[in-house]
Amino acid sequence: MFRVRKTDGCRLLATLALLALAGCESAPPQATDADVIIVGAGIAGIAAALEAESLGARVLVIEANSVAGGHAVKADGFALVDTPLQRAKGLRDSPDIAYRDFVAWGEDPDPGWTQRYAGESRTEVHDWLTALGVRFTTLADTAQDTVPRLHQTRGGAVNAVVPLIRAALQRERIDFLWNTEVTGILRREGRMAGVYTRRTRNDGQRLYRAPAIVLATGGFGANLGLVRQHWRADLPVPARLLAGAGSFATGSGLALAEPFGAAVTRLDRQVTVVGGLPDPRNPDGERGLLVQNPAAIWVDATGRRFTNEAAPGRVTERAVLALSPATLWLVFDAAGARKLTVDGAAWLTPATVRRDILGNATLVKSATTIEALAESAGLPAATLADTVERFNRFVELGMDTDFGRIGPGMTEPPPARLRQPPFYAVQLYPMTRANLGGLAIDAEARVLGGASQVLHGLFAAGEATGVAGINGSHGGSGTFLGPAVLTGRVAGRGAARLVLGEAAATAPASPPDATERPRPGTAPVTLRRESGDLPALLAAARPGYWHFNVSHALLVERGQACADCHRSGWPPSPAITREQRLVQLDSCTRCH
Ligand SMILES: Cc1cc2nc3c(=O)[nH]c(=O)nc-3n(C[C@H](O)[C@H](O)[C@H](O)COP(=O)(O)OP(=O)(O)OC[C@H]3O[C@@H](n4cnc5c(N)ncnc54)[C@H](O)[C@@H]3O)c2cc1C
Ligand code: HEC
Ligand code: HEC
Repeated sequence: MFRVRKTDGCRLLATLALLALAGCESAPPQATDADVIIVGAGIAGIAAALEAESLGARVLVIEANSVAGGHAVKADGFALVDTPLQRAKGLRDSPDIAYRDFVAWGEDPDPGWTQRYAGESRTEVHDWLTALGVRFTTLADTAQDTVPRLHQTRGGAVNAVVPLIRAALQRERIDFLWNTEVTGILRREGRMAGVYTRRTRNDGQRLYRAPAIVLATGGFGANLGLVRQHWRADLPVPARLLAGAGSFATGSGLALAEPFGAAVTRLDRQVTVVGGLPDPRNPDGERGLLVQNPAAIWVDATGRRFTNEAAPGRVTERAVLALSPATLWLVFDAAGARKLTVDGAAWLTPATVRRDILGNATLVKSATTIEALAESAGLPAATLADTVERFNRFVELGMDTDFGRIGPGMTEPPPARLRQPPFYAVQLYPMTRANLGGLAIDAEARVLGGASQVLHGLFAAGEATGVAGINGSHGGSGTFLGPAVLTGRVAGRGAARLVLGEAAATAPASPPDATERPRPGTAPVTLRRESGDLPALLAAARPGYWHFNVSHALLVERGQACADCHRSGWPPSPAITREQRLVQLDSCTRCH
């Protein structure tokens, strides 16, 4: 599958008579599988791959999942500064304004990377993404920004990452290994030399060699043990904590770099959202869905309100985490039930939310009186009745004298009284979402060892770095995806230059792939027997088929026809060739 070549770095350097670089002559010629190995095909890894390739590097992307995209498939927007879209709307933004906003929100972001991101997000992220075919169509105003700067693609960030995956699949110098987990890194003579891998479908193990490795493995929000271990010192670890990051977010990048003494930073800064509902479709009860309802009041285990429910997330997050136990109930009435939203899994639709969440008596309690509601939710009845009555009085007065949710300075539309039965109570828990710390990197995205020296040949990008401290102590809006692209490109560039030397800078860049090449095989295909085999395949629950299983279980439930996604170029079978992978990419937005 891979062309085997001698170490290009040394050969090229020799050609260029730049032998001054230490170590080259002494390293024995070594067959490599690529110039750069990228671990993880999330948005940071794909950005790194495209960048390294455009500088002339042969790239191998190794991904544990069967599909690319990582968390970007479920994310929303990018914080971008002084863009054509902002200008078209008459908004004045600048690196200085953005820097001030980021510092005010995050409190203590890394000044170097934050300044750089504010200054370069237009050229390095916006212009680069749009040249690859990404279209930003809307701008959202967020609590963090004094100027609307959250740039959204229609249909969510899946439509920002799919064009990047498509471009990567179209470049022949980029190879992919799917269903393959990187389990270790090989270092020889003080330099990274390759990665050990395990195929998730058949357990096959192999070493792939390359002189530069980029860790783009994402955060650790699904590794609740690690989350607890690095919990912030000023607040107790919640008794119950749900995972709200994808199941591949295990923090494996930290484990991979650890044997070399890699420095880590800010591991105790984590985004914890407070509206986590145990996902009824997750058998181990560890995964959470995000539940929100602007019509609800929040009460603690004593049945009392404890915060301004409409305050920004970083305020309410702290209020909930300080509770003992750290759990809350959303209480709303029949009118408010219409405002309930649940996010975080592809199976959620208005109909399934009504049936499987609102209609699920274990998750959502309902009753015709507040007292009966309290009874079934296990809350003190008299206190809850008082709380609701007091809140209703605040609504009538137009003033919440307890927490300031209603009154001057109110940012949300005024809430309504809770008075229309049935009444509802939903118990929610803190839930992980993203990391603000991780592997420590320098300005070239090189992973730092203990005493600030770099680990030769090792780079990191994206959430594996907590995206380089840009978020400070509080997760911002769009300040993960954008910085993941920036750090990904910086890491890809550094890795390519390390291997190719000066030649990298002058290698002809691949042209932007904004226009899709014509592809064969996109005509619908008629299927007969295949659909009958699907239940058996799903029931087999084979290791390494997680995404195939969750996606096809869903489309069986929806009764979707195979030919909606599988076309003549890609029948209902594994996508093996690049062409099949390209056809497959057309299906992602049917669920994401
Ligand atoms: C629900 C949700 C909504 C969000 N919304 C936003 C938003 O609107 N704006 C924003 O800026 N950010 C948002 N974020 C955060 C943002 O999506 C992520 O920080 C970002 O996508 C991380 O990208 P990444 O490439 O660094 O990591 P990931 O997307 O996590 O990708 C890492 C990849 O590496 C693979 N991998 C991991 N370990 C290994 C291994 N050992 N071997 C092989 N492969 C491995 C994983 O399978 C995965 O594909 C959101 C996050 C969530 C969970
Ligand atoms: C038939 C529906 C369906 C299709 C089509 C589909 N997916 Fe998924 N995907 C799911 C479900 C269900 C999950 C589990 C998480 C969830 O419910 O959101 C998932 C999860 C993922 C994840 C992991 C996100 C996480 O939680 O960490 C990635 C990455 C992903 N899909 C990428 C893709 C890509 C890329 C495509 C197109 C090639 C695609 N998916 C097509 C249903 C689908
Ligand atoms: C909504 C889009 C969609 C529909 C409809 C769909 N599939 Fe798929 N199919 C996918 C995606 C995406 C993948 C890749 C999943 C992965 O590898 O994670 C896939 C992969 C497969 C695979 C390969 C699994 C492997 O070994 O890697 C088989 C087999 C398959 N589908 C069968 C079917 C059958 C049978 C039907 C009809 C009952 C069907 N699919 C309908 C999107 C779809």
